[in-house]
Amino acid sequence: MTLLNGLTRMSGATGGSGETLAIRGGRPLRGRVDVKGAKNLVTKAMVAALLGETPSILRDVPGISDVAVVRSLLEVHGVRVTDGDEEGTFHLDPSDVESAHMEEIDAHAGASRIPILFCGPLLHRLGQAFIPDLGGCRIGDRPIDFHLDALRKFGAAVEKLPSGIRLSAPSGLRGANIHLPYPSVGATEQVLLTAVRAEGVTELRNAAIEPEIMDLIAVLQKMGAIISYEPNRVILIEGVDRLFGYEHRAVFDRNEAASWASAALATDGEIFVGGARQPEMLTFLNVLRKVGGDFEIREDGILFRRGGDLKPVTVETDVHPGFMTDWQQPLIVALTQAHGESVVHETVYENRFGFTSALVKMGADIVVHPHGLQDGPRRVPRRNLEQAAVITGPTPLVGADITVPDLRGGYSHVIAALTATGASTVHNVGIISRGYEKFFSKLTALGADFDVLD
Ligand code: UD1
Repeated sequence: MTLLNGLTRMSGATGGSGETLAIRGGRPLRGRVDVKGAKNLVTKAMVAALLGETPSILRDVPGISDVAVVRSLLEVHGVRVTDGDEEGTFHLDPSDVESAHMEEIDAHAGASRIPILFCGPLLHRLGQAFIPDLGGCRIGDRPIDFHLDALRKFGAAVEKLPSGIRLSAPSGLRGANIHLPYPSVGATEQVLLTAVRAEGVTELRNAAIEPEIMDLIAVLQKMGAIISYEPNRVILIEGVDRLFGYEHRAVFDRNEAASWASAALATDGEIFVGGARQPEMLTFLNVLRKVGGDFEIREDGILFRRGGDLKPVTVETDVHPGFMTDWQQPLIVALTQAHGESVVHETVYENRFGFTSALVKMGADIVVHPHGLQDGPRRVPRRNLEQAAVITGPTPLVGADITVPDLRGGYSHVIAALTATGASTVHNVGIISRGYEKFFSKLTALGADFDVLD
């Protein structure tokens, strides 16, 4: 059985393929959910396996559709991926890596942006790579200019075709000095995955330093890479001739953990998130405490609940160690129940408040300022793409007919429907399986009242 099968196990729920949910809200979510490895690490660690001369073993792989996409992309490139005995373990054997046809890559890439990270490893293994037009959540333009600029600095030739991008490096790749215009997570990973086997030293400035990136560095070091980091977002990579397989247990998914924490607050429930750890969640926990949330750090996870009435808060999303952009959507559902006016500044993406219109339809008082708000001193300089949402609460939410726009927004819709009194119909929930493993089973375990309609 492949991991993706985990997606379709819907204990307690009735019905078909899982695109539409009928939700009867108003019940607190109570119970335990367990989180596995981070989507934002696992998919990259799978790509890293391409760089090894021997097989790799990755543990705590979640059964989410983004993982299934990367698995099939690896397979079309000749990597043998097999499930280990322990649930959530992948064996990745890259000994027969080969070029894939454009059509095959295109057919398997789906909506994922991960194919861009195949560039460096494929250039090292095969001297060429093809990247189809990229998808990902519809939360802005999500360009790849930083990636392509970095690859050119390593010596790759980049050719744009109508169907995608072809890259070649017939005479190999050389270390480079790269300064990212913004600490992009994906571009930092691109540089890491390319520099580890490039000839000479790479100095990366203004790098992203998310916990998932630190875990990817740990994976690469296990493979034989030499990577060090200095204060102020500087990463140094000394290229090596050969890399080998790794054995690694992925860092937990702090985004999923934060999502369930916000769900506990929104529904006034109590959720224990098994596998969640404090160090990677410090910033989130600080905000949770300011909002009036309560948490108990235990050895095997974190318990989340309200500590009294919810209070308003002002947060700005930012790169790590700031408040992560993926955390704001579930939090906003909880903020609709806080007493007063909260402000969320979105500084990372230009279009990440689209999901709030469904919350407004359910009775929330949320005003989105598409060009942001100038409201006093800020920790980080404003970016042009900034938006702000002002949430005034508490407002009772009532059930509605709503359609999921993207991954985190979709999760928020479901949580809003569970917070609301009355019945909701939530369409397009399939997209949530990109990032939340066994989503329906977990909702059932927490006492959610819902049916799967189609
Ligand atoms: C990753 C995460 C996503 C998270 C985001 C920011 C994965 C699979 N996804 O996405 O969950 O929300 O980091 O923490 O790990 N940019 C450019 N040019 C580029 C690349 C990025 O302008 O070439 C801009 C983007 O438009 C955005 C910002 O940089 O405004 C951040 O993007 P980035 O950090 O690259 O996000 P992802 O790696 O795509």
